[in-house]
Amino acid sequence: MSSIVLASGNPGKIREIQAILQNDKILPQSQFDVAEPDETGSTFVENAIIKARNAALHCQLPAIADDSGLVVDAMNGAPGVISARYAGVGASDQANLEKLLLKMRDVPEAERSARFICVMVYLRHALDPTPVIAQGVWEGRIMHHAVGDNGFGYDPVFWVEQYQCSSAQLAPELKNALSHRGQALKILSQQLATR
Ligand code: IMP
Repeated sequence: MSSIVLASGNPGKIREIQAILQNDKILPQSQFDVAEPDETGSTFVENAIIKARNAALHCQLPAIADDSGLVVDAMNGAPGVISARYAGVGASDQANLEKLLLKMRDVPEAERSARFICVMVYLRHALDPTPVIAQGVWEGRIMHHAVGDNGFGYDPVFWVEQYQCSSAQLAPELKNALSHRGQALKILSQQLATR
């Protein structure tokens, strides 16, 4: 069994990835005392690679990292890679979501399309010139008001057409099956199966 370091300390992400990559031992980078790098990229894939490279370098192991966020068409792709800090560094999910609703206040229904994106990358080592890259996309629309208590981030304002509710109203297992993160993880695991 080979070890892969995950550039995240989030226990939920570690469990999810370990459940799919059963032939590998997934180790959180927190075990190695790795300092988080600045996410200086302007795309999800750049930031995922920055995080994976940092983890691979410090742990001397293959590494997996992800980067995700919300892309809103009417806002030219914002909040994009700054989704977590849209209302400022350290902003709460609630503050980010309220800023989004305000910006979208006068945008007509037909122009409220949006999607969650998750990019996951695998680097064999820090200097690997051919990262394995998987992208998951979850299409939806931005609602006018927040609804629902599940999930996190922008879930209460993300309308899921198929289930006629916000993603914060979906049961967690259903959200995982539909979501950008679930999709990216599935694609990555298929690509890694051919290693
Ligand atoms: P991270 O890269 O997974 O930390 O996600 C960055 C930010 O994107 C989060 O802080 C959220 O604001 C937003 N985001 C990513 N995935 C989701 C999701 O599944 N639901 C709601 N918001 C999300």
